[in-house]
Amino acid sequence: MTAPPHDRRRGRDRLAADGERDRLATDGERDQLATDGGSVTVTFADVEAAAERIDDPTVVKPTPVERSTSLEEMTGADRVMLKLEHLQWTGSFKTRGAYNKIRACLETGDPDHVVAASAGNHAQGVALAATTLGVDATIVMPTTAPQTKVDATRGYGASVELVGQDFQAAMAYAQELVAETDAEFVHAFDDPEIVAGQGTLGIEMCEDVPEADTIVVPIGGGGLISGIATAVAELSPETRVVGVQATGAATVPDSLEKGIPQTLESVDTIADGIATGGISELTLSIIERHVDEVVTVTNGEIADAILLLMERAKQVVEGAGAASVAAIRSDDLDVAGETVMPLLCGGNLDMTMLRTVLVHALTRRRQILRLRVHIEDRPGKMAEISSLIADHDANIQTVRHDRALEDLDVGEAYLIFQVETSGAQHARRIVDAIAESGYPVDVINHPDVNVLATDADRA
Ligand SMILES: Cc1ncc(COP(=O)(O)O)c(C=O)c1O
Repeated sequence: MTAPPHDRRRGRDRLAADGERDRLATDGERDQLATDGGSVTVTFADVEAAAERIDDPTVVKPTPVERSTSLEEMTGADRVMLKLEHLQWTGSFKTRGAYNKIRACLETGDPDHVVAASAGNHAQGVALAATTLGVDATIVMPTTAPQTKVDATRGYGASVELVGQDFQAAMAYAQELVAETDAEFVHAFDDPEIVAGQGTLGIEMCEDVPEADTIVVPIGGGGLISGIATAVAELSPETRVVGVQATGAATVPDSLEKGIPQTLESVDTIADGIATGGISELTLSIIERHVDEVVTVTNGEIADAILLLMERAKQVVEGAGAASVAAIRSDDLDVAGETVMPLLCGGNLDMTMLRTVLVHALTRRRQILRLRVHIEDRPGKMAEISSLIADHDANIQTVRHDRALEDLDVGEAYLIFQVETSGAQHARRIVDAIAESGYPVDVINHPDVNVLATDADRA
């Protein structure tokens, strides 16, 4: 799905129309706005100031750019230049904003303690930034946060408090902590210093590939794209800035449409980095001004992109980091003939998620095939069909008998094979061979068996 490209100027005019925004905002929605009437914003000078503050390669290092000819063939782009920010310290861009925020606080006051709520990358970014700057950090994480992320956050020197089942509960507790102490709260995106810090990545991208026609940036709460788009608007105003959201967590198209930030009650995406479910007045106003287009990508497209990046580009990225590549492969974004720069913004891929993604993507590619073969329940049948499969050089992962089904007559059974194939054409040959030997066969993880015949491997 794609939100219609919007006129950046129209957004600016709309923001000026405070009356219109007030008419649209309900009380509840207004309560969620953390910035005051759109008056707070971020300028390129703020991003430049952030770049000076974070000029310490032990905290933020310049990340490489790599060309992908495979993606060029798939998308028709002239050049695909992957920005490998998942190779940043802590595995994401988050330290940029956090370090800028905490240093800016140190310039104006003397906070000795910061608090943040996060289930993932922001936690690690704040922990590293605070420790480097000699400030204590308490990160509130939901009890459901993966142990690896909790350990990594502690490893960067923060103390972690596990509170609540979900992010909202963790956030509420973090705010209580701030109210009770004089600690500084470090928001994940709704803060001009955070946005400016993330914007330093925009400066780097413009320096890396000044001729980029399009850059593609994943959006959660919008801090990352707001910072990058602010830098691009100044340094390379002709470059198109495209935002990407996960279909199950897309708040920006609706927010642009209504002119106020929209939040989702629940989100459904494998890309937890962009599963925020809401943006802020600050980030929406910058997106309206500086972002040209927003597209959405499905879980399946994100899973395919994760696998593709591993296979072809040898890069391990998390769902949010792969969303930009999913976008340039989708029909909603035309990059033919362009120099395009997808941002791989995070690499903290949980191993359980990796397994889920692999199974899903391999299934879509027909590389995992589950076959149900109708047999007479007699000795030798399993061996016969197994050797048919083996003759086609396919590996059988599992096999079982199923006899307790109403549609089976006495003396009949199903054999359920899970088979590894090299793709759709190989799968088709195996299915044909079994059918030609006289056994009725269904592909139960691809209900339309004929799809096997026509669907060439996409990746
Ligand atoms: C890897 C990754 N990519 C993208 C984002 C989105 O950033 P933002 O919330 O600033 O839009 C996040 C946010 O946590 C992230 O962790």
